[in-house]
Amino acid sequence: MKKALITGVAGQDGSYLSEFLLQKGYEVHGTIRRSSLEGVSRVDHLYKGEGKNKHFNVHYGDITDSICMSDIISKVKPDEIYHLAAQSHVRVSFDIPGYTAQTDAVGTLNILEAIRQNNLTNKTKFYQASTSELFGKVSESPQSESTPFYPRSPYGTAKLYAYWTTINYREAYGIFGSNGILFNHESPRRGNSFVTKKIVESIAQIKSGKIKSFKLGNLDAKRDWGYAPEYVEAMWLMLQHKEPLDLVIATGETHSVRELIEKAFKIAGYNIYWEGSGVDEVGKCSDSNDVLVYIDPYYFRPTEVENLHGNPTKAEKVLGWKAKIKFDELVKIMMEFELKKN
Ligand code: NAP
Ligand code: GDD
Repeated sequence: MKKALITGVAGQDGSYLSEFLLQKGYEVHGTIRRSSLEGVSRVDHLYKGEGKNKHFNVHYGDITDSICMSDIISKVKPDEIYHLAAQSHVRVSFDIPGYTAQTDAVGTLNILEAIRQNNLTNKTKFYQASTSELFGKVSESPQSESTPFYPRSPYGTAKLYAYWTTINYREAYGIFGSNGILFNHESPRRGNSFVTKKIVESIAQIKSGKIKSFKLGNLDAKRDWGYAPEYVEAMWLMLQHKEPLDLVIATGETHSVRELIEKAFKIAGYNIYWEGSGVDEVGKCSDSNDVLVYIDPYYFRPTEVENLHGNPTKAEKVLGWKAKIKFDELVKIMMEFELKKN
């Protein structure tokens, strides 16, 4: 039985990847952080209660703690490590740049060093959760594996370190280390401070009368949004490939935050129109003329990534992987999930 270790197992991707690997017959080990509250974890269904899976194991571990990470890796001796743990919020990385660097940059080094120091370089394959944020201030569109990097946030610069450290450990020590350069991917399990989830959750709350309006930042940023359960399969495929590689994973479509708002409102039964400009712009309901969306500069970033649009041609050619769920269906899945919940 193959063993996989997933750091950040309780995150959006960690939870889908756990389900995917268990289905493939893996013994799955995951790291979680201790929290003062036993929160509603995305993997509770796998290790608690009736649905408990005997092949799913959880370990406490913070990736900034190199001793503990090395201890877990030496005991589990995984065939594959999916390193997903990170401070993953771009805007928040401007508030906590030091912590973001410790986690996203040095945390990655800690895992690679643990593989090396435990003499697992020939056994353990390593997947690094790299990101389209590396392209940042883009020099071409769409972005592919050959597009130059220009990160625009403490998150982006920390992930750039992790990207190159993975390549360095591959070249210096022969570790099978691959970077998946994933564009934005979403799902009903997405954290609620990311823009897709925040929009669908807020619209559902307007519809059920819990709130009257909500606030957003930059409406004109564009993203290449895909569906998370499909993206975890691409991670796995990358580690099954005959050699390590760095690959863009994306849908190949790009859409603005504004389009996302309009589409989600429509699914919930509202038409909205825009009035004003800049921070005074508002989104209004066509029927009632009530303001449903305001702009709040709190959500602006000191430096923004305006346009992400991936070119996934290589992933299709090398892995046979292609996104099936594109923007329209993704918004429908997420909006309908929230409407049912509220
Ligand atoms: P997520 O939902 O934020 O999950 C991140 C996980 O990492 C959480 O479980 C979190 O624990 C854990 N974590 C954070 N800091 C940690 C630390 N110091 N030690 C141990 N664990 C820690 O993120 P995601 O969307 O699943 O993304 C997974 C990875 O892919 C991340 O590295 C992200 O940067 C990268 N990525 C994501 C996307 C995307 O669009 N989703 C695109 C490209 C790359 P808690 O649950 O305790 O907070
Ligand atoms: N979060 C948030 N909240 N974003 C907003 C808001 C708001 O109220 N209003 C507008 N936006 C804009 C942001 O300025 C950004 O341009 C876009 O919506 C997407 O923001 P997020 O959903 O926070 O995602 P992100 O693109 O910054 O980062 C995500 O994708 C990266 C891959 O490109 C994260 O998952 C990163 O971890 C990941 O690497």
